[in-house]
Amino acid sequence: MKHSWLVSSLLLLWRWTVTTMASQLWAGAASVDITPPINPNWLPLNEYELEKLHIRAIVFENNGERGALIGVEIVGYEQPVYEHVIELVAEYLNVTAGNILFTCTHTHGAAPWGTALFYTEHNYGNQRVNQYATLADAALKAVKEAYAKMVPAQVGYATGEAYLNVNRDNLNPLTGRWTQFSNFTGPVDREIQVLTFNNMNNTPIAVYTTYPMHPVNSYQAGYVSADWPGAMSRWIEQSFNEKVVAIYSQSASGDVNPRCRRTGTNALASISQVHVSGLELAQEPLEEPLRDQYLPLVRADVTYIRQLFTELTSVGVVLGEEVIRIMSRTSNFDSNPSIWSQQANVTCPGRARMDKAREGVPGYYYNSTDVQIMTGAFGIGNTVLAHVGAEIFTRIGWHIRDSSTMNNTMIVTMCNGKSASGYIADVESVSQQVFETLGSTLYPGSCAEDKIVSSIAEHIKAYKETL
Ligand SMILES: *[C@@H]1O[C@H](CO)[C@@H](O)[C@H](O)[C@H]1NC(C)=O
Ligand SMILES: *[C@@H]1O[C@H](CO)[C@@H](O)[C@H](O)[C@H]1NC(C)=O
Ligand SMILES: *[C@@H]1O[C@H](CO)[C@@H](O)[C@H](O)[C@H]1NC(C)=O
Ligand SMILES: *[C@@H]1O[C@H](CO)[C@@H](O)[C@H](O)[C@H]1NC(C)=O
Ligand SMILES: *[C@@H]1O[C@H](CO)[C@@H](O)[C@H](O)[C@H]1NC(C)=O
Repeated sequence: MKHSWLVSSLLLLWRWTVTTMASQLWAGAASVDITPPINPNWLPLNEYELEKLHIRAIVFENNGERGALIGVEIVGYEQPVYEHVIELVAEYLNVTAGNILFTCTHTHGAAPWGTALFYTEHNYGNQRVNQYATLADAALKAVKEAYAKMVPAQVGYATGEAYLNVNRDNLNPLTGRWTQFSNFTGPVDREIQVLTFNNMNNTPIAVYTTYPMHPVNSYQAGYVSADWPGAMSRWIEQSFNEKVVAIYSQSASGDVNPRCRRTGTNALASISQVHVSGLELAQEPLEEPLRDQYLPLVRADVTYIRQLFTELTSVGVVLGEEVIRIMSRTSNFDSNPSIWSQQANVTCPGRARMDKAREGVPGYYYNSTDVQIMTGAFGIGNTVLAHVGAEIFTRIGWHIRDSSTMNNTMIVTMCNGKSASGYIADVESVSQQVFETLGSTLYPGSCAEDKIVSSIAEHIKAYKETL
């Protein structure tokens, strides 16, 4: 009798110790420099933080479940790149694919197209980065470093807002045709969403943020640029003496640009020898000849590149300060969050295009193969990261949040794969003849919006049932 009492007490103590130890979130984060080798014909300024590109990872674990949030400062990635990342990282962490979110910041200053800069033998496409053979190797390095740095941690969620963005689909008053230009009455979301990881002394170790705004101002400027998201991440990291890793992911921003585009436009004007008045110039007429290579891409006047990078740094600092303000007032930290994921493709009818017009006129199409779109939910405690493998319009983001049964629903796009869809417009915007809708391979209608919203709602419902 005595003996069995001792045995069961010891067993209880052992179970208590194991459970207590296991029911504690651990988290770590790391950042790896992936700036491409310098092209001798296109020297950088080397004056701004945003001239460096990074891949960042936050890795966490609780009760034997692991997860990773990975963000890379490039314009986009192809489906095979995502699959390679998942192959390496999922094997290393021993997790299912859904427990890893892989996103890009979408900076147009790190683009494999449009700038001669990236078509060098040093750096072909967006795969060959720095000393890493592939982006997946760099991702794995960041994940390994983050994993090695894990400490007991807690996670908390809060939101704020910023008025730096604007809807970008507008009827040109001169021509009466659709074009890309600020539309101050069009839909746009101002929320900044912030998921903060603190250690158990309430000191931040990592932060994951979303906000809808295209980082387009460095496009074709001829310099490597992480744009405002890079400036924001670096500002946050420096504010915590490099003890924090700050990842940014795009929210629903398919139809959203920065309000201010003057400095980037001036840089393009200087490439094309167009007079820079000082006032804001129309962007599209300056971008188009360079984009379509009617004009050669030569070096911009460095005066305007400095103005551009100073403005992008300022935007990054303002957004970074808002993120830090939100981090500072985040409460309800959870040191024992559940970690859960589910993801699946949805499928909609597709179409193929017979013309090339960019905007303002109807497109001509024929029916073509179905289009698959990745959707998913990644639950971390009482926060869920709702994600889509494409660029969705503002209203789709709103509908995802409206249909979610969880209050803390972060919207993460360009995540876990690249759909062949192109932009995904909401059903109200789908008939607007803008470049986003004309370039879409989706048969026009509500299929994509309906299926994305309902599948994510189902994923979230399934997560909620486990809580
Ligand atoms: C990987 O995870 C599975 C399922 O959770 C587990 O059975 C297995 O032991 C793990 N392998 C390693 C090497 O950790
Ligand atoms: C602005 O956007 C709204 C909503 O998409 C649209 O109805 C309106 O025509 C646009 N206004 C202009 C001036 O383009
Ligand atoms: C093209 O696809 C749409 C959507 O699936 C369908 O409604 C329509 O009938 C198809 N048209 C033709 C000519 O097959
Ligand atoms: C969600 O938000 C609503 C409205 O603010 C609140 O009443 C409710 O308690 C919240 N639910 C949870 C689970 O926090
Ligand atoms: C899911 O969709 C992507 C494209 O977004 C495709 O490459 C992938 O093969 C699909 N996966 C499955 C399991 O069908």
